[in-house]
Amino acid sequence: QNKLIMKRFTIKGPNNAVRGEVSISGAKNSCLPLMAASVLFKNKVTLQNVPFVKDVYTMRDLLVSLGAKVEFSIEKKMMTITNKKKHSLVVSYDKVSTMRAGVLLMGSLLARYPMKKIKVALGGGCALGVRDTNWHLAGFKSLGANNRLDQGYVNISSEKGLKGGKYKFPKVTVTGSSNLIMASVFNKGTHYIKNISIEPEVLDLINFLNNSGADIKFIGKRSIKINGVKQLISGKHTIIGDRIEAFSYLCVGAITKKKVKIKNINPNFLKSETTVLKRIGYGIDIKYNSIDISPGNKLRPIKIKTGPFPNFATDNMPMIMAVLTIVQGKSQIDETIFSNRFMAAPELNRMGANITVKKNKAIIIGQKKLNAADCISSDLRTTFSIILGAIAAKGVSTISRVYHGLRGYYNLESKLRKIGVRITSKDKW
Ligand code: EPU
Repeated sequence: QNKLIMKRFTIKGPNNAVRGEVSISGAKNSCLPLMAASVLFKNKVTLQNVPFVKDVYTMRDLLVSLGAKVEFSIEKKMMTITNKKKHSLVVSYDKVSTMRAGVLLMGSLLARYPMKKIKVALGGGCALGVRDTNWHLAGFKSLGANNRLDQGYVNISSEKGLKGGKYKFPKVTVTGSSNLIMASVFNKGTHYIKNISIEPEVLDLINFLNNSGADIKFIGKRSIKINGVKQLISGKHTIIGDRIEAFSYLCVGAITKKKVKIKNINPNFLKSETTVLKRIGYGIDIKYNSIDISPGNKLRPIKIKTGPFPNFATDNMPMIMAVLTIVQGKSQIDETIFSNRFMAAPELNRMGANITVKKNKAIIIGQKKLNAADCISSDLRTTFSIILGAIAAKGVSTISRVYHGLRGYYNLESKLRKIGVRITSKDKW
């Protein structure tokens, strides 16, 4: 664990040798809710195309602490989760504080044990800004479950069990949608939810549950109805490709102006992102399950606004920001999801980029070149954004605290090296 925390990357740039293919892993943000959903099942859940990133290990530890048996088969990219025993109903603070997705256990535990008292530690804020769960809890209330905060833990229970009702999310929330969908699976009646997230990862969860016996139907673009079923016995599912990892590697091609192919990804997950790359001037070739990026013609600055799917993903924003630092002219990014998502900006500026951040807006004036610097990463996607800067910058850059990146990028170093990035790592003591 300490070794991971102290790991540091060294990257030599500018990199003119980038070229090749990257095979994209399963989506972390699908895998975590699917693992949480395993609590709904009486017997065994099998997940395929699992990305064995740090967060997946943390979620495993969390499930094990609740009484599940979790087996990994890394070569087969597979895991099985077996629920023989009754679950413990306490999700402790140390699990939720290191990984926000721990809150997803609220929904599945509540569905399975509606009349018991579920205790889930409140995670609080995180590096990206405030991350509330008020809409998750309001959603549970619409099913008949009340909550009370006690010593940092939310206690959730319903006196008479969960019954159908109605809830409309005030704004789109990804984890909130997944949580309420899981909570509603066994409701006594029909539950209607409006304004849900239609992120591919949420649809992956819905498909998995429906294929395993749940009854969830879309009745509008962002509206669903869930008829309660009695039980779920066992399930098997192949996790979709990771659109954020995919875009990250496309940006390696973009910032080096070289050819990179990403494989094992549904291009429909990245329509906004590939449109943005095309508008900047890159060549984009889309096939059934792959995307190629090539240098294209003259690059032009651009205005981008993040938003819930199908808009440009907030998780992909730090990477495009790095790319825009070398596109001549003035670009602008409006971040609409999180209050503090430009943490890569000061690090990129130390490499000679010109990014000015005002509230939720970043203005980027593209430079002819960047110069190497020693940088510190502060969250998962920031790590990749700084890596991109270091790949383009002249000289040797170091990046510390890369454990943030390892939470969500599988085989990060070897995938980068395979396409020609001159990267080495050291465990600093
Ligand atoms: N929000 C509330 N109240 C709520 C729920 C959300 O105010 O009850 C606010 C949040 O504070 C935030 C906004 O709504 O400002 C959207 O948050 P959302 O709930 O959609 O985010 P999340 O579900 O906690 C997931 C991903 C994030 C990704 C966001 C946005 C997982 C495990 N996490 O988080 O992924 O940035 O959706 O797309 O799926 C990452 O992978 O790097 C990552 C941070």
